[in-house]
Amino acid sequence: MIDVGGDGRVWLLSGTGSSYALRLTERDELLHLHWGPRITLADAEALAAEPLPGHRGFESLLDGREEYPVEGGPRFVRPALTTRTEAVRGTDWVYEEYQVHEGGAGGDELRLHFHDPVQHVDIALHYRLRTGTDVIERWATLSHGGGDRTAPVELLRADAAAWSLPVRDHWRLSHLHGRWAAESQLARTDLSHGEHVIGSRRGHTSHAHLPWIALDAGDAGEEHGEVWSAALAWSGSWRIAVQLLPDGLVQAVGGAGHDDAGLVLLAPGESYTTPVFAGLWTDGGFGASSRAWHAYQLAHVIPGAEQSRPVLYNSWEATYFEVSEAGQRALARRAADVGVELFVVDDGWFGTRTHDAAGLGDWTPNPDRFPNGLKPLADDVHALGMQFGIWVEPEMVNPDSDLYRAHPDWVQYQPGRRRTEFRNQLILNLARDDVRDYLWQQLDTLLHSAPIDYVKWDFNRCFTDAGWPGDPYPQRLWVDHVHGLYALLDRLRAAHPGVAFESCSGGGGRIDLGILSRTDQVWTSDNTDPLDRLAIQDGFSQIHPARVMAAWVTDSPNEQLNDRVSSLRYRFVSSMAGVLGIGGDLVKWSEDELTEAREWITRYKTIRPVVQHGELYRLRPPSEELSAVQYVRGDETVVLAWLRHQRHGEPQPALRLRGLDPAATYSDVATGEVHRGAVLLHHGLRTGLRGDLDAAVFHFRRN
Ligand code: DGJ
Repeated sequence: MIDVGGDGRVWLLSGTGSSYALRLTERDELLHLHWGPRITLADAEALAAEPLPGHRGFESLLDGREEYPVEGGPRFVRPALTTRTEAVRGTDWVYEEYQVHEGGAGGDELRLHFHDPVQHVDIALHYRLRTGTDVIERWATLSHGGGDRTAPVELLRADAAAWSLPVRDHWRLSHLHGRWAAESQLARTDLSHGEHVIGSRRGHTSHAHLPWIALDAGDAGEEHGEVWSAALAWSGSWRIAVQLLPDGLVQAVGGAGHDDAGLVLLAPGESYTTPVFAGLWTDGGFGASSRAWHAYQLAHVIPGAEQSRPVLYNSWEATYFEVSEAGQRALARRAADVGVELFVVDDGWFGTRTHDAAGLGDWTPNPDRFPNGLKPLADDVHALGMQFGIWVEPEMVNPDSDLYRAHPDWVQYQPGRRRTEFRNQLILNLARDDVRDYLWQQLDTLLHSAPIDYVKWDFNRCFTDAGWPGDPYPQRLWVDHVHGLYALLDRLRAAHPGVAFESCSGGGGRIDLGILSRTDQVWTSDNTDPLDRLAIQDGFSQIHPARVMAAWVTDSPNEQLNDRVSSLRYRFVSSMAGVLGIGGDLVKWSEDELTEAREWITRYKTIRPVVQHGELYRLRPPSEELSAVQYVRGDETVVLAWLRHQRHGEPQPALRLRGLDPAATYSDVATGEVHRGAVLLHHGLRTGLRGDLDAAVFHFRRN
């Protein structure tokens, strides 16, 4: 709902449990008023009538209070917008009008229009309150107004939004950092004066940070307290800067690009739309914040989220590059036998890709490995009752490939410089129309060549030499590569609506709201160690739902990473926290292991609706010896618990469950044992876990 007051210069957006208010001064300054619990329009107008604090030497009254601070004029905060023409740098806008679009498909939208008469730039600020949520999606559209101006306008920086927080004595910042095989590690630190900047300078979202922040006044816990959080919908380089200003005001600006050195050059009539920077205020702690983010993504971001994801098998860790049709068939038979629903052939099926130094770019089946193409294997997989999927990495090329030999200028490169190879590969310039057309034709042909149900879309190196010789504004490729990727994915999805897509980037290097709006699930991490995974999954769950979090059971010892030995039980329960998959070499698994795997997969299918579509409660974090998560959906609840290490024979603490009816009783679906809701809530569930790396699944149904 959007209310307008104050002579059309105060706006109040109200979601299911929160409100957001802003106002325009008589000098056309757009000031923030409120982001928190629900208030009335009268409250917002009262806030608007409050005078700003008196002037203080060397300070700007605007700093920390503006909805979209621009460079130019009396401002010293990090600007969201920096523009430049040949003659003038910085923005000074006049207000033009507002528009309210209520009842649109995705929610109610407020649009505020401004114009810079000197630079001839039109600026529209968008606020969309997503229906049934408290998520406000904010973005900006910047257009060259044309007119008698023929000179271009350069957007040195154009963030999506600035989020302003109320004054509190203290602030704490939560964010997710990491690296390859250790993604989404949750960090929670006091915010000190100055700036805390996270982002990616790598051309993809990156393993280093997920584009998400959460702020609290230092008093929030897992299930209590106010949390202000924001997430960017962008899959290229990005930056979020959180500033604690001298007066205790906090502002977070974020958008595409890692610096202020030039993002887009607008010719007359052209425009640039920033990605969405979505914000969410919740009461009820970090848990409520996560659940609200999950509900928003399931309802508004992830395509077809109401459908459950199948149990998949992926061949990577079983075969690496030793791919053969017979070998894949043998794995597929075993996968079908244990209950897998989707069989995915990973890297190594195409071109001359028998190792990582050749073949990327040539998306036709390797004639020695698949003499009759992929169709015979895909047909067999279907005959076994499973869907069929393949791996691709379309944005890349090996120098040793037919594509690169034919088009060495199609990659990103700086003229006269060595082309940096990571994993023996270079990055195709997807900002180029001819490159996108080629990829479209290759991938469309591939998807027509065999009954393919699923595409794992990988991206295995960062940008390094992001040049585009011959283009008048080469740095646009940082943004336009991502737009090219999105366009390609959108086109493929439209032409092949039955095909599901997974976003992968050497594990979790490309996980964000932007890619999630056009993929069905993500590969969380190349780290398939079931213990390490708990921390990665815990971080992931801060923002993204289990419905998209792919998790495989692989072999023990975990040879890829750490040689850790773990039971099949522990590995399964770890992977059952998301979209269960198997990534081990099933051909080598014993009959006993296969029987046990079959039982776990059967069990997973019974809890899957609750895990993939339920509400998530983090009962105890993985930093504890005993950790656990709980999912609640309607009358059902599922608890997954993991014990790292039992000391001195001590029993483990009981798990106090959440989201249950204290007046109801609940039956254990597996054993029939009856539990009382009040007891589970207030005294807890005894897991009976013992020893090292033990794990258990509980599934209760309300009577
Ligand atoms: C990186 C991915 O994360 C792995 O799962 C696998 O697909 C390899 N790439 C294949 O090259």
